[in-house]
Amino acid sequence: MNTFEEIEDRDGIRLSWNVWPSSRLEATRMVVPIGCLFTPLKEREGVQAFQYEPVTCKMPCRAILNPYCQIDVRGKLWICPFCLQRNQFPPHYKDISNTNLPAELLGQYTTIEYILNKPPSLPPIFLFVVDTCLDEVDLKALKDSLVVSLSLLPPNAMVGLITYGTMAQVHELGYSDCPKSYVFRGSKEYTAKQIQDMLGLGVVPAMRPGQPQPRPGQPAPPQTFGAARFLLPVQQCEFTLTSILEQLQQDPWPVSNDKRPLRCTGTALSVAVGLLEAAYQNTGARIILFAGGPCTEGPGLVVGPELKEPIRSHNDIEKDVAKHVKKAVKFYESLAKRAADKGHVIDIFTGCLDQIGLLEMKSLVNLTNGFLTISDSFKTAIFKQTFMRLFNKDAEGHLQMGFNATLEVQTTRELRVCGLIGPAISANKKTACVGETEIGIAGTSAWKFCGITPKTTASLYFEVAAQQQQAVQPGSRGLVQFVTLYQHASGQYRLRVTTVARNWADVNSPEIPASFDQEAAAVLMARIAIFKAEIDDSPDVLRWLDRMLIRLCQKFADYRKDDPSSFRLSDNFSIYPQFMFHLRRSQFLQVFNNSPDETAFYRHILNREDVNNSLIMIQPTLMSYSFDGPPQPVLLDSISIKPDVILLLDTFFHILIWHGETVAQWRKAKYHEQAEYANFKMLLEAPKADAQELLAERFPLPRYIDCDQGGSQERFLKWKVNPSTTHVNAGGYGYNAASQGQAIATDDVSLQVFMEHLKKLSVSGSS
Ligand SMILES: *[C@@H]1O[C@H](CO)[C@@H](O)[C@H](O)[C@H]1NC(C)=O
Ligand SMILES: *[C@@H]1O[C@H](CO)[C@@H](O)[C@H](O)[C@H]1NC(C)=O
Ligand SMILES: *[C@@H]1O[C@H](CO)[C@@H](O)[C@H](O)[C@H]1NC(C)=O
Ligand SMILES: *[C@@H]1O[C@H](CO)[C@@H](O)[C@H](O)[C@H]1NC(C)=O
Ligand SMILES: [Zn+2]
Repeated sequence: MNTFEEIEDRDGIRLSWNVWPSSRLEATRMVVPIGCLFTPLKEREGVQAFQYEPVTCKMPCRAILNPYCQIDVRGKLWICPFCLQRNQFPPHYKDISNTNLPAELLGQYTTIEYILNKPPSLPPIFLFVVDTCLDEVDLKALKDSLVVSLSLLPPNAMVGLITYGTMAQVHELGYSDCPKSYVFRGSKEYTAKQIQDMLGLGVVPAMRPGQPQPRPGQPAPPQTFGAARFLLPVQQCEFTLTSILEQLQQDPWPVSNDKRPLRCTGTALSVAVGLLEAAYQNTGARIILFAGGPCTEGPGLVVGPELKEPIRSHNDIEKDVAKHVKKAVKFYESLAKRAADKGHVIDIFTGCLDQIGLLEMKSLVNLTNGFLTISDSFKTAIFKQTFMRLFNKDAEGHLQMGFNATLEVQTTRELRVCGLIGPAISANKKTACVGETEIGIAGTSAWKFCGITPKTTASLYFEVAAQQQQAVQPGSRGLVQFVTLYQHASGQYRLRVTTVARNWADVNSPEIPASFDQEAAAVLMARIAIFKAEIDDSPDVLRWLDRMLIRLCQKFADYRKDDPSSFRLSDNFSIYPQFMFHLRRSQFLQVFNNSPDETAFYRHILNREDVNNSLIMIQPTLMSYSFDGPPQPVLLDSISIKPDVILLLDTFFHILIWHGETVAQWRKAKYHEQAEYANFKMLLEAPKADAQELLAERFPLPRYIDCDQGGSQERFLKWKVNPSTTHVNAGGYGYNAASQGQAIATDDVSLQVFMEHLKKLSVSGSS
């Protein structure tokens, strides 16, 4: 059998269970649902797309020919495994034989991509929405990044610019004689119709007599009506747009000391959405918002302009005293839905030390699969590099972003789909594959991703259809087919098809627990927990996670009843409880160490990453560097904190290098600058080099922290490590660690205490 990783490399999929039980009841008893993390457009080395149309089953099935279909080469027939209908091969497959099969029938093409024979789509649109209530240095940094980004866009990509402060302005790029823009009052809520009328969209004036005709041989003047005044190919408007950006000034409205600047972020976004929905429905487009502070004016207001009114905290929300939240959430949700319906993506980049209202605005990125990055200012490397990485290209020089994607799932009849969790919306396709149980975005077997990248990863959940246990035919298997139709960055329409098959097994077959992928399972459960946490209170979610963990242990651990010391988990399950322990204490579920904006950010990112990256977020990795040997991974535990080591912590969002006290003293004494201590110099450099490697790939760029034992930045490390050596339980549970490790003042229970509780509750059988 291939390892889970090999399967992931080929098909972009990791399943919680890789052998399935034959009855619904048994599947429920397994606690962790049958589910998968699926990366529809996963990059695969050396695999090309095929330039022909897929062969599909009859209506209404439409499943696509794949290596799991039974074929009859003589009769030129294939049997669809989903609906069991026979299909004739199309005429051009007449030469098919067992030694001459099309790629889609070969075993290595369980994932295959077709380039469809459709005229190419319009080039993608990038509409910048730029906050001008920034200090001068920040505005300059942002303008510089925007100008650079124009050179990274494909020359035929269309661009547009909206700026906002007290008012929102749509800049006319088709007019190069002098800057010209259309102004919207920040305090006013405009309907889509009003916006379109004010921008003169939808009306194409006829050529008036007497108007100068372009002379033959000369290029036609730029169109001066409709949306083409505001959105033009980069190659045509780069000069005008660059000069508009260079001349862009701070918002002129005076701001007194006790006030926040008036920012009409909501109005600016609604103008952007209105512009695109009028002119470019279902064309790949991104609205990219650059916000330096919260919306303080007009619709979508997050906090009033008076500085004495603080922006809401988790506490205010919990006590229901956050007075603007509900209204703002509703406003941004309705904008998000409009954009998502038309297939437009909204990205948010923030440059602000404080919150800007992501809690209220998160649906904009969540529903459209937009990028979200928070940084302290637009001067930071986090902003600049993350923004540039948006325009990364693939080997052929195309942007690594697809648009207007639909992911459809088809199952064989013993299995049904319960829902999807990820940055998508329902495509409202109610087929026979839709299950009764609802998890995530449910009631459909198709979902729409306005934007999709090779990294976008969704989780999908399934249920077993058969109520009754059925005798399983040896070798019988269930199939799931994922069909992703999308607009490739080259403009081509492409169809990616992944078909996976897994065996059914009798209810008590040992094959089922042996097929458990505990890493995928932990991430699938984390996504459900966060989905619940968006609706329910955190304590309820924590209790739910605990209950599920105990039930899983009761079902799959070996133990004698009421004897905790007899409790054993097999290797396939052994690290799962530890993932749950770290998930419980993570920023995803313990929100009070963070602002509501940070919580929204962290959850958004977890909702779109693959198993590896999600696991780093749930249980960060810790490497230790010392003179005792090569760098090695160490326990994410306070016993790993020692004065004579350097630690490298990767939480996905932060990369932290921590120097123990002794190491820090040596460095302060500048030993590394002396030739005889060259090995100390190497010790100092090793974690830096490893950190650079992590930083090179990651999106968004993590925050890089370099700190010493006892410094204030150390808190990022202390939050994450298991408090095995708190003063409450130092030395307990078989560890005599307090003498080497460092005690952490916290009321948290340690992993050891957590495991003791888990064993007790699991063997007691009373929950
Ligand atoms: C975008 O996808 C929808 C289906 O979700 C389709 O109806 C529409 O034609 C697509 N738009 C383009 C421009 O391909
Ligand atoms: C699970 O355990 C079984 C038997 O102990 C073993 O054969 C199998 O390789 C394990 N699977 C994984 C994914 O570790
Ligand atoms: C994303 O949107 C869905 C609704 O489509 C919602 O249920 C989910 O909680 C949202 N997730 C986050 C992290 O906001
Ligand atoms: C995930 O991490 C493992 C171990 O570090 C590695 O072997 C594997 O290739 C990674 N998979 C992906 C998809 O990055
Ligand atoms: Zn069929």
